[in-house]
Amino acid sequence: MKKLISVMMFLALMVPAASFAAGPAVKVDKANVDVTNTASLQRGARYFVNYCMGCHEAQYMRYNRIGRDLGLTDDQVRDNLIFTRDEFGDPTRVGALMKNAYPKRDAAEAFGTAPPDLTLVARVRGEDWLYTFLRSYYLDENRPMGVNNTVFPNVGMPHVLWELQGFQRKEVVGKDARGHDEVRFELVQSGSMSPAEYDKAVRDIVAFLSYMGEPIQTERKMIGIWVMLFLFIFTIIAYLMKKEYWKDVH
Ligand code: HEC
Repeated sequence: MKKLISVMMFLALMVPAASFAAGPAVKVDKANVDVTNTASLQRGARYFVNYCMGCHEAQYMRYNRIGRDLGLTDDQVRDNLIFTRDEFGDPTRVGALMKNAYPKRDAAEAFGTAPPDLTLVARVRGEDWLYTFLRSYYLDENRPMGVNNTVFPNVGMPHVLWELQGFQRKEVVGKDARGHDEVRFELVQSGSMSPAEYDKAVRDIVAFLSYMGEPIQTERKMIGIWVMLFLFIFTIIAYLMKKEYWKDVH
């Protein structure tokens, strides 16, 4: 019986390890986003509504929540982040959810797959994966959109940021220790940004996606620090009390 219990406990411990092993098979770059950097999040929000929302929604997020969290007034949100109209043809209200009017069926027909909602994508894919994904489009004439992606092979999404990044070519330079292709990109047509500027823009987008996946994360981490501090101080008080109560007991 004892043996059975220990085997079961061992198996239970193995589960998280097994699910980690199913992570990305490709090497991803560190995103190093800073979700406490409001300016970066504001830029990310601007890129998101301009370059992503034509196809993707963030249907669990409201515009005015972003405004509140990122220090923007309702008017600033209306003027800079809202480009859609509601079902009555009026400009979308600031308290509305971030939806678009692109029917899923049409989108699926155009791209092979409907663009998924992105509110929680940072929780699903991780920041590093997103950062690498948006920087890993390369020219591939065998694909319908003329591009492919090393992180997401045969992806249905076109290279929507091509005006900023330009187009790059992929070159396989060897194999890494795990047998995956080691690739290098070469910019064959430059965009409006330098590679460093483009990396920064992508970092802003990923920071925004990370914020959106858990808008409360900065506050949660702060509360965590206060709780640890409280527990630390309380431990000292509890210890002193214990000493006081037991001092006459021998
Ligand atoms: C022209 C339409 C279009 C635009 C614009 C667009 N996407 Fe996509 N995106 C797609 C489609 C279609 C897919 C599904 C691809 C697939 O599954 O093959 C997708 C998939 C994705 C995925 C993968 C989701 C997953 O977990 O499978 C991410 C992440 C993503 N898009 C991010 C973005 C970001 C960030 C932007 C803005 C910079 C953006 N997209 C703009 C069409 C678009």
